[in-house]
Amino acid sequence: MKWSLRIDRGYNMLINGIEYKSVWWEDGSVCLIDQNLLPFAFQVVKLNDFPQVIKAIRDMTVRGAPAIGAAGAFAMALAVIAAPDDKFRSSIRLAHDQIIAARPTAIDLNNGVSYVYENALRFIPDNGHCRQVAVLAATEFVDRSEHDCRILGAIGEPLIPDGARILTHCNAGALATVDWGTALAVIRVAHRKGKRLFVYVSETRPRLQGARLTAFELQQEGIEHAIITDSAAGYYFWKNEIDLMITGADRICLNGDIANKIGTYDKAVLAKEHKIPFYVAAPQTTFDLACMNGKHIPIEYRSPEEITRFGDCQLSNPDSPAFNPAFDITPARLITAFITSKGIFKPKEAAHLIHKAIEN
Ligand code: MRU
Repeated sequence: MKWSLRIDRGYNMLINGIEYKSVWWEDGSVCLIDQNLLPFAFQVVKLNDFPQVIKAIRDMTVRGAPAIGAAGAFAMALAVIAAPDDKFRSSIRLAHDQIIAARPTAIDLNNGVSYVYENALRFIPDNGHCRQVAVLAATEFVDRSEHDCRILGAIGEPLIPDGARILTHCNAGALATVDWGTALAVIRVAHRKGKRLFVYVSETRPRLQGARLTAFELQQEGIEHAIITDSAAGYYFWKNEIDLMITGADRICLNGDIANKIGTYDKAVLAKEHKIPFYVAAPQTTFDLACMNGKHIPIEYRSPEEITRFGDCQLSNPDSPAFNPAFDITPARLITAFITSKGIFKPKEAAHLIHKAIEN
């Protein structure tokens, strides 16, 4: 497919008219927009050591696959800076393993941490050099991730017809990446080109990333939207009121299977039943070329209390257990195409083409 690539260099994510990224490096610290507080309060947190970043990834102060990849890369740089000279190699190895373990499903975290770790290792025993390289490698990884999202937005935009009614799930916006978003980058660029759009935002139980964060980003950008319950998607498909579905991903396997937020799979089945295209937008850092298919993706199970309680309020029968898988697997056959910074690909060719592009 041919496309004319006009990249919007105008502005990044706007929050109340001010440009932000979701993750950045400032004076030797990692800065994050606190996603647990949005949309009710806006606060930037500044973290000075890698255990603080691990905690922020675990408790979802920072969340979204590319955003935790960026936070992880900077956390690894902090760990290299702080590693004592007499135990340098073992300290950074331990930090590498601890940061990666913070959340298991999104491969971006592993990719970001390992990129910094491997670059730093190359200069042992000159530990001073390792420390400088770690910061440079983290910055490079994060800049590339942002660049990818910006480009894939422009590449995916022609897939969105004027007047499109779009379903998205979870938050795949600028907050979930370094900037621009994945699914929302495509929507953002289409909107900025003047296309009329309407976005159905599925609320995304139990953490409500759709209802809180996607709705917030769309409202900030002036894009028409409405929040629906996760189980309402079928009704809108049935009414023929959804023209396409677009999400991000937390891991893309060699065969094109993906892991994404719990509730993606059932919507993908619905899209197939209704012959509606389902696009997955992702930067290169979300591809896992070592993972043959979805069966090999580790799925994170989070606390049952995310389902049974809301703050201090018990929502469910107190003595009943709850299961809380945070992600599900959508098989490649349900995905119409991947939107990447290297082009638009059918699921079967995506990983191979990305691999070639990385090699070149
Ligand atoms: O548990 P989360 O909020 O980190 O999960 C995030 C998602 O599943 C997103 O849809 C995914 O990372 C898409 S790309 C930004």
